Amino acid sequence: MSLQKGSEEIASKVFWVGAKDRDRKLFDGLVQLPYGTSYNAYLILGSEKAALIDTVNPGFEKQLLANISEQIDPAKLDYVVMNHAEPDHANAAKDVLAVAKKAKLVTGAKGKELAMIYFDIPADRIMVVDENSKVSLGDKTLKFIDAPWLHWPETMFTYLEEDKILFPCDFFGSHLAVDQFYANEYGNEKTLDMARLYFAEIMMPFRKAGQAAIEKVKKLGLKMIAPSHGLIWREPKVILDEYTNWTEPKFQKKVMIAYISMWGSTEKMVLALADALKKRGTIFHMFDLTNTEIGQVAKELVDTPVVILGAPTVLGTAHPVAAYATMLIKTLRAPTVYLAVLTSHGWSGGAVRALQNMLEGTTIKLLDIVEVKGPPKKAEFDKLDVLAENITEKLNSLPHYS
Ligand code: FEO
Repeated sequence: MSLQKGSEEIASKVFWVGAKDRDRKLFDGLVQLPYGTSYNAYLILGSEKAALIDTVNPGFEKQLLANISEQIDPAKLDYVVMNHAEPDHANAAKDVLAVAKKAKLVTGAKGKELAMIYFDIPADRIMVVDENSKVSLGDKTLKFIDAPWLHWPETMFTYLEEDKILFPCDFFGSHLAVDQFYANEYGNEKTLDMARLYFAEIMMPFRKAGQAAIEKVKKLGLKMIAPSHGLIWREPKVILDEYTNWTEPKFQKKVMIAYISMWGSTEKMVLALADALKKRGTIFHMFDLTNTEIGQVAKELVDTPVVILGAPTVLGTAHPVAAYATMLIKTLRAPTVYLAVLTSHGWSGGAVRALQNMLEGTTIKLLDIVEVKGPPKKAEFDKLDVLAENITEKLNSLPHYS
């Protein structure tokens, strides 16, 4: 574990005091972290009181306390705000409260329940707040915004009124542990790319909740968004605009083709469809699932209305890799409007039935199935040409393009 010590003043008397975890490779046992991640905690020193916003992942408690100590004796903290109870942000609250004996944990009603269950924080150390609450630090004031499901049901945002800084915990975050603190210093485009990956894997299932939260924060005239993963936005509009597009979602006029092939039959169909789409000028992005990190598939799903799955039958069911991609579409509640399946089998089918069962309960419309025994022949290639035409027509008829 490599540690980066130090605090960083991000606004007058507002300090980043978190930890950059450059060595972490995986989150939730699922999400790949090519650039590690950071656990951003923020110290706010008002003229009368001091507050800490969020804490750090287990293993970084000492670093957090050392970083706070650069600015103030942690024992003098008055408040530890818990925006979200997931341990990467909340676990070290108990360590801070053990040092700061007069401090209260500030959180919502649901946050209180979780803090007591997960971290054994006694009820008398918890101050419950809601959207009508204000916590005065003297010349600085904290307000709170309900933001359920971003990313757990108890989630809230904290707003520093005088400085117009939003602390939204996971929302607007990215898994990035780099030298820079600010998106515009690292590069807005590069940060947005990672923010989009983060959105796909963490926030995409909660698009409606995201829309509601965006409506609330857009009214605030924010000067800074300081999430608890990744880089800080000094130009809030950049990330707000993208989150608006992703939560709505505003589609791009394109198709995603995700496939796996065992003896080349499914691949022949995929390539024939790709050719037929190309002839029509229809944009598609193709992912061979044998060498694609699943996060890239998730990221593509954010603004893609049409998905083609190439999934051969294996032992009477869908190839497990294609099944994994299909489960991802369902679990992440991708905004996919239309889906088609290209599949081949040797002696008995089964892939289509398995994929349909998996997608039950979604609103995805099945556009077509092109199924063949063995390698595809003229009849299948003709069907693929018709499918390409159908896809192109459907793409042209969809609203909400950016
Ligand atoms: Fe970064 Fe939902 O915790």
